[in-house]
Amino acid sequence: MLFQRIKPLDKILETAQKNALVRQLGALQLTLLGVGAIIGTGIFVLTAAAAQKAGPGMMWSFVIAGLVCAVAALCYSEIASMVPVSGSAYTYTYAVMGEILAWMVGWALILEYAVAASAVSVGWSGYFMGLVKSATGFELPALLSAGPAWSFAGGIPSVDFSHGVFNLPAVVIALAVTWLLMIGTTESARVNAILVAIKILALSAFVALTVPVINGAHFEPLAPNGWFGNDGGSGLGIVGAAASIFFAYVGFDAVSTAAEETKNPQRNVPIGLIGSLALCTVFYLLVAAGAVGAIGAQPTALGVQPGSPEFVAQCQALLAQGQEPLVCSNEALAHVLRVIGHERAGDMVGLAANLALPSVILMMLYGQTRIFFVMARDGLLPQSLAQVHPKWKTPYKVTLITGIFVAIAAALFPVGQLADISNSGTLFAFFMVAIAVLILRVKDPTRHRPFRTPFVWVVAPLAIFGTLFLFFNLPFEAKIVLPIWGGIGLLFYFMYGYRKSHLARGNLEVHETDSDIPPPPVPPIQ
Ligand code: ALA
Repeated sequence: MLFQRIKPLDKILETAQKNALVRQLGALQLTLLGVGAIIGTGIFVLTAAAAQKAGPGMMWSFVIAGLVCAVAALCYSEIASMVPVSGSAYTYTYAVMGEILAWMVGWALILEYAVAASAVSVGWSGYFMGLVKSATGFELPALLSAGPAWSFAGGIPSVDFSHGVFNLPAVVIALAVTWLLMIGTTESARVNAILVAIKILALSAFVALTVPVINGAHFEPLAPNGWFGNDGGSGLGIVGAAASIFFAYVGFDAVSTAAEETKNPQRNVPIGLIGSLALCTVFYLLVAAGAVGAIGAQPTALGVQPGSPEFVAQCQALLAQGQEPLVCSNEALAHVLRVIGHERAGDMVGLAANLALPSVILMMLYGQTRIFFVMARDGLLPQSLAQVHPKWKTPYKVTLITGIFVAIAAALFPVGQLADISNSGTLFAFFMVAIAVLILRVKDPTRHRPFRTPFVWVVAPLAIFGTLFLFFNLPFEAKIVLPIWGGIGLLFYFMYGYRKSHLARGNLEVHETDSDIPPPPVPPIQ
């Protein structure tokens, strides 16, 4: 019965038309939007965690994660061009698999967007403190510049406050971006283009300075933790690093989320998705090769999870001896450049990260409020959450609530663990989209598909398998968060959405009140 609450595709398209946002984005803007949302903490910061997990073999990790994203993007493209409306995986699932699964996907997208915003805030904090130290010599006390270290060994959580308590810079940036979103700040197309250019310039400079000094010996041994971690199932090794570094690619689905605001989405969405992904993959491989090749991956003791108390203690001990290996750095790329003698270039890359990462936080937070907005439009969340501020014209309540949670998580968790948790939600959403594409091919074969996933019966199963594969290679704590979070989500659904759903009340039409609610601020890429 529950699974029969399916929102007809035609109604979704009709709703979208009534509440339509202005279609103003073209293929190039979409690609830039994609690159703007994709390049961030993953490559600038998590390269260090990937080196700890996989050693030089992290090059393979980037390839594996990129391939999974590519097949997922091909599935996204078909469904996003067919259903060019807001809400991303949530809306697609509503149309294909029904309300309860759509709710679960929307709920998982909170992990993707909100937790990713926390992770990027922590990544920004590392670069900010590094730049401040390099420029002025000032260092915040360690207790205020990092959250505590968490361990989940044997499935039992334990927390160690001896090397960090509260990541103050991460909280400040998360709240600052929340404030900007609340008062209606958006990035103009020009600002977004400038930030994308800064990121690409920074990565290009990094590649240009590191690739010429690559030392082949640094690629030996290629896989100190093996492919699956030497004890298996620990989230270590090349595949474990792939599951984590997947975070570096997250964001390309922001393109499909913007489908409702895209000119000729049928053509432009697939170009934006695949174009941005391809561009980023090339950069990531070059950057990973440059980082490892220039100074070596330098894992601390093998088999130790980055971010764990053991790892933090090892890094502190090395630091006390005046050594800072790549894996311990909070600002991996700037660090590599400084080590090979390019102090000034390291600072410039640090500055680029400082300038560009807040825009990734903004996109993630914005994406989150947009998902909430669409879920409230469907009656699954209280309309009051989507209430718009009379002056700012933004859904300020939901933005503030989201921002506070994002800041709390950023204060208390290390970047790698946040990224892993975010990945678990994202992988679930991509998994559902791949299934939705196949179901629609069977259930609605004649519907016009402006973009057809090539070899869909190979590509979609590969996406399904790939997302499952990466999910099961995440560390334990990230894997366990998804079912727990899902359980809480189900509770909420039965307490609220199940009864209030517009669909359940037979209300498929768009009400006047709906159109009284202006859309959230113009997306950050007009
Ligand atoms: N892909 C984005 C990043 O790496 C989320 O920051």
